[in-house]
Amino acid sequence: MEQLRSFFVFLAVFLASLVNAEVHFHEFVIQETPVKRLCRVHNSITVNGQFPGPTLEVRNGDSLVITAINKARYNITLHWHGIRQMRNPWADGPEYITQCPIQPGGSYTYKFTIEDQEGTLWWHAHSRWLRATVYGALIIRPPLSSPHYPFPVIPKREITLLLGEWWDRNPMDVLNLAQFTGAAPNISDAFTINGQPGDLYRCSSQETLRFLVGSGEIVLLRVINSALNQELFFGVANHKLTVVAADASYTKPFSTNVIMLGPGQTTDVLLTADQPPAHYYMAAHAYNSANAAFDNTTTTAILKYKDASCVTLQGKSQAQAIPAQLPGFNDTATAAAFTAQMKSPSKVKVPLEIDENLFFTVGLGLFNCPTPNTQRCQGPNGTRFTASINNVSFVFPKQNSIMQAYYQGTPAGVFTTDFPPTPPVTFDYTGNVSRGLWQPTRGTKAYKLKFNSKVQIILQDTSIVTTENHPMHLHGYEFYVVGTGVGNFNPNTDTASFNLIDPPRRNTIGTPPGGWVAIRFVANNPGAWLMHCHIDSHIFWGLAMVFLVENGEGHLQSVQSPPLDLPQC
Ligand code: C2O
Repeated sequence: MEQLRSFFVFLAVFLASLVNAEVHFHEFVIQETPVKRLCRVHNSITVNGQFPGPTLEVRNGDSLVITAINKARYNITLHWHGIRQMRNPWADGPEYITQCPIQPGGSYTYKFTIEDQEGTLWWHAHSRWLRATVYGALIIRPPLSSPHYPFPVIPKREITLLLGEWWDRNPMDVLNLAQFTGAAPNISDAFTINGQPGDLYRCSSQETLRFLVGSGEIVLLRVINSALNQELFFGVANHKLTVVAADASYTKPFSTNVIMLGPGQTTDVLLTADQPPAHYYMAAHAYNSANAAFDNTTTTAILKYKDASCVTLQGKSQAQAIPAQLPGFNDTATAAAFTAQMKSPSKVKVPLEIDENLFFTVGLGLFNCPTPNTQRCQGPNGTRFTASINNVSFVFPKQNSIMQAYYQGTPAGVFTTDFPPTPPVTFDYTGNVSRGLWQPTRGTKAYKLKFNSKVQIILQDTSIVTTENHPMHLHGYEFYVVGTGVGNFNPNTDTASFNLIDPPRRNTIGTPPGGWVAIRFVANNPGAWLMHCHIDSHIFWGLAMVFLVENGEGHLQSVQSPPLDLPQC
């Protein structure tokens, strides 16, 4: 068996070399590591002792072979956010959806190939709240056969910025407490750029990240929102940003002062160092669309011109950086205007005839308690928080993963395939919703899709508990964002305004607060694929569902056989 395996590895490397692609081997050791932030040391879960974790740098067409070795005390899985994983759900990673978790002491090797994707993606743990510290960048450059970026100007440097969220306690305890009480989880204590909070936090300014740039240089900034629960505005003091890609798809370039990213989203921007030599803050703070508590702090790093004078007096070794201007926390107008400018670089092939017309309400809810205000009912008015899509609050299976149960033909007790294509009742989704509609039902329901069916989903935010921007992420696919609007979606009038020419292609899109967004894709990737809100506090409340995409005809349209080391539950 080992011989056969090494033969296959040899074959893969050999075949890859023929087409100029590479196979990258990595070992990711998941382990507790002391990390000091905000004056305190925490034993954080990391990969290879690094926080954030290692950056993966590959080219379109390359393959990755990553062995995850779990030396931590929690179950874990890893997810390669935005990678299509064609016919290969086994490498996707969400726990209990495509695999059982890797138990402490166990290991699993993720093997996958990058097919027709370029730009910035990232990877993260997909178990409970471990992704708070287990995440890193995944950069896909153009292939050697045509190595140039399709940008208006060629960048001289590249800087990757992972925007994160830090708790001054164990994030797993924060989650456990919230799950126990039914209340909202504690907000974070800091945001971070590449793991560092920056100048505006206690015990942090020594470590503030500085990025050198020469006057006149063009820099490609790859910005990733890897925060757990918060949409973020990001900007650089006195510098314009030219957006050129999002979620590893190129966009029609446009210029902006600020970008907004929901958790899961990435945006590549070009910056020209055309300002007087000095220190400029790069900064991020919350875009808070909900009526809820949030972390209102600001994380910073510094863009430092090489020829900027550096004041080196005793006790004052750094010149003051110029502050960045960010929009107000609730500036939905700016967030919406930014997102609306995203377009594909030219005409794209959007599905026009739709086979599956789905309408999904997404939002929060409250479960009433038999005895309100008890220890376990600390939500609003003595309830417990929940969330749902089409009134189904998703419950993750425990006995097996959905993909394994499906493949083995043993779904009983793991999942059902009766996820509703529309909400069970029609109501004024964004109006004053009667309390009778605030309680969803629980279930582990998948929606079946025929291979190659053309799918449209209207993601309709509701005003139950609060309207909110929900960054909805679909695994195994990229979709076109063909339309968006405020209020309730009206098929008779809103469909006419869809952009079916050059809509942006993404893997994560936010519902406008109190509005809707329309996406389209072709279900050409068989497997079990999770769709969920990328705000982690909403996932565990149940803001998720699963698409079960059936095999097509023959081998090349069917799910590959599972790897031998796939963990069992
Ligand atoms: Cu970025 Cu389900 O994940």
